[in-house]
Amino acid sequence: MPLRSVVKGVGAYLPERVLTNDDLARMVDTNDEWIRQRTGIARRHIAAKDELTSDLGRKAALAALDNAGASVDEIDLIVMATTTPDNTFPATATRLQAKLGVTRGAAFDVQAVCTGFLYALAQADNMLRLGQARCALVVGAEIYSRILDWEDRSTCVLFGDGAGAVVLKAEAVGDGADERGVLSTTLGADGRFYDALYVDGGPASTGSAGFVRMQGQEVFRHAVKRMSESVERALADAGLSLSDLDWLIPHQANSRIIDKVGARLGLTPDQVVVTVEEHANTSAATIPLALTHGVQRQLFKPGDLLGLTAMGGGFTWGAAVIRW
Ligand code: UT7
Repeated sequence: MPLRSVVKGVGAYLPERVLTNDDLARMVDTNDEWIRQRTGIARRHIAAKDELTSDLGRKAALAALDNAGASVDEIDLIVMATTTPDNTFPATATRLQAKLGVTRGAAFDVQAVCTGFLYALAQADNMLRLGQARCALVVGAEIYSRILDWEDRSTCVLFGDGAGAVVLKAEAVGDGADERGVLSTTLGADGRFYDALYVDGGPASTGSAGFVRMQGQEVFRHAVKRMSESVERALADAGLSLSDLDWLIPHQANSRIIDKVGARLGLTPDQVVVTVEEHANTSAATIPLALTHGVQRQLFKPGDLLGLTAMGGGFTWGAAVIRW
C-alpha cells in the first residue's frame, strides 16, 4: 500500500507579552479602530528579549508531540519554516533539533515567508511518502518584532511573534481521496514581485537584518487571487472539487483577505478558521496556529476535508488539502 502523511498532532505557542492596538497608538500615529476595521487585528504577542525563534519553535513542537502522543525519539525529520532565523546559519531547524534532544534524521529550514509553512509541509509530505523519513515535525516559527520598523505605521501594526507545529507520520492508509492524510500540495512563486514585500537587509546586501517593507494594496490583491486559486488547484489535484471542502484554514494576515477568499470559494463564514485578531500576522506560523485553534475547539471531525492556503513575499503562494 502507498504511504501517506497523516497529521498526528498539532501545537502552538504565543509569547507572554501582549501588545494591543492601544499600546501601538502610543507609539505611532494609529488607532484601534483603523487597525480593527482594516485588518481584523486586536493584539499581537511579542517575544521576550532572551527568546529566540528556536525557543518558540521548541514550545510549539513539544505541544504538538504531546497532542500526538509521540516522543522526540520518533522524530527523524524537522522542517522549519522561518523568515527570522536565530542566526544566518546554521538552520534554525538544527538548533531546534538540539533543543529537543533529537540526534537523528535530517533538519533544515525553508524560506518562503508567509507561505513558508506550506512549503515546509510539502517537503515533509514528499519525503514521508518516499520513505525518506517516518515521523516529521513541521514547524512555523517567527519573531517579526525584530525585523519591524517600529516607526512605520503601515507595517508595524500588522505583524506579531509566534510558532505552530504539526507532527506528521507516514502511514500505509491507501491512496483514495476518502482516506485520511495529506491528499495534495501545490506551490507557486513569481520573483518579479520581489519589491512589493521584502526586507531591506540581509547578510549579502547590507550586512544587517533589515526591516519589512510592503506595498499593502498590491499584496492584498494578489493574496485574494492566489490563495483562492491555489485551493481550487490543490482540490483538483486530489480529484476533488470545492463542494467537497469542509474547512478553510488560511494564512492569517488580514480578516478582509480571509473573508474574500472564503467568499470566492463559496464557503460560509463558519467554515473558515480566523485567528488573526489574537496574534496578527505571524508569517509562517499562522497556519499551524489556526490549525491548533481548530483542533482545541474540536472543529474538525474525522473525514472532514481541510484546505490550507497562504500567500507571501516573493511572491510565493500555495495550498494543501488534508483529509482529517
Ligand atoms: O502575509 C502577506 C503579507 N501581508 C499582507 O497580506 C497584507 C496585505 N495588505 C493589507 O492587509 C492592507 O493593504 C493593509 C492593512 C496593509 C492596508 O490597508 P488598506 O485598506 O490597503 O489601506 P491603505 O494602504 O490604502 O491606506 C489607507 C490610509 C492611508 O491614508 P490616506 O493616504 O488615505 O490619507 C494610510 O496612510 O490609511 C493610512 N494608514 C494608517 N492609518 C492609521 C496606513 N497605516 C495606518 C495605520 N493607522 N496603521
